[in-house]
Amino acid sequence: MRTQVAIVGAGPAGLLLGHLLTRSGIGNVVLERRSPDYVLSRIRAGVIEQGLADLLREAGVGDRLDREGLLHTGFSLAFAGRRHRIDLDGLTAGKCVTVYGQTELTRDLMEARAKASAPSFYEVEHVELAGLDGDRPSIRFRQKGIDDELNCDFVAGCDGFHGVSRASIPSGVLNTFERVYPFGWLGLLADVPPADEELVYASHDRGFALCSMRSLTRSRFYVQVPLDENPEDWTEIRFFDELKRRLPEEIARRVRPGPAIEKSIAPLRSFVAEPMRWGRLFLAGDAAHIVPPTGAKGLNLAGSDVRYLFEALREHYHEKSGAGLDAYSARALRRVWKAERFSWWMTSVLHRFPGMSPFEERMQQAELDYIASSRAASAALAENYVGLPY
Ligand code: APR
Ligand code: PHB
Repeated sequence: MRTQVAIVGAGPAGLLLGHLLTRSGIGNVVLERRSPDYVLSRIRAGVIEQGLADLLREAGVGDRLDREGLLHTGFSLAFAGRRHRIDLDGLTAGKCVTVYGQTELTRDLMEARAKASAPSFYEVEHVELAGLDGDRPSIRFRQKGIDDELNCDFVAGCDGFHGVSRASIPSGVLNTFERVYPFGWLGLLADVPPADEELVYASHDRGFALCSMRSLTRSRFYVQVPLDENPEDWTEIRFFDELKRRLPEEIARRVRPGPAIEKSIAPLRSFVAEPMRWGRLFLAGDAAHIVPPTGAKGLNLAGSDVRYLFEALREHYHEKSGAGLDAYSARALRRVWKAERFSWWMTSVLHRFPGMSPFEERMQQAELDYIASSRAASAALAENYVGLPY
């Protein structure tokens, strides 16, 4: 089998890249380790920056996003028993975010791919990349017990943090940077109306909490917990009780507890691998970097990587120029590092860290107080939250 671009991974990064390439007449094949149902059962974040929403519309996959997504022109920070609204719209001259589940976006992209009859292989095993440093890369894999090989011009490694792509780069080539946070987020999804019209990020002595949503009838809540907690130990009663204790009274009053559709603990990590290219392999999305979820940047960074990579591949095939491919890693990393900084900063300001000194606690309080009292500080937060320009 032969194609122009082999894409490893059918998460949002791989599917969006495939979609953009197909629309430009560039051949591509997607190889995914899991089944489509498994991919669509993963509960992930759901805040889409203006730039990614525009990209999805331009690419013709924004219809359901526009119909069902919720436009949010602000969000709240809650601390010291009060709340401060960040007016995204007013502070960024009209930008906002769209609340739309990553799972829904993945479904839209899968459907668009099926409609275009673009080839995808799900439940592939033993994926091995070869020849990445030469002119003829190839991918060996097994599907339904049969060994197969895909020859290509380029490989797009969109296979997430635990994928095979980054691991195929010889040791010594990559520089990695990492911070692992000493806590996790216990998340609960329930079919109850949101506690507030907008997202509420709360900093409290008992730890961070977040009230988010997927729709006007489905809510997503999180509380910061130690990493060794077991979700099974958290009944709905215990979860909602803890959540409400961390929220200002006026918001806590409006939290409607309900049965959990999903409940899980996610660790928090910052991670970047540099460069994002080795020979004919290009990394995009979680395969190259991870952010803690506090700023909702994971999906959005996958989107900006894909946009840069798509433009570079289009230039290669349609304009016979390799300049975009040569610039890809540096260009993507410039935006990645700014989102890493923002996610790290939001995480640092809003969570309780084990063993925090009284000085560090006062610094967090002063930081939040500064945001609440300074338009410039709120504007810096808003500018990052809606997403830096591509
Ligand atoms: N071979 C084929 N596919 C693989 C392999 C492999 N060896 N390893 C992993 N995969 C698949 C995974 O099953 C997954 O479907 O690659 C896909 C990677 O998708 P994501 O993890 O969703 O990563 P990405 O597309 O970069 O999206 C980034 O998703 O994980 C969130 O927080 C992240 O929101 C961010 C966004
Ligand atoms: C979510 O809805 O899952 C969500 C929203 C905002 C975040 C993180 C997660 O910052």
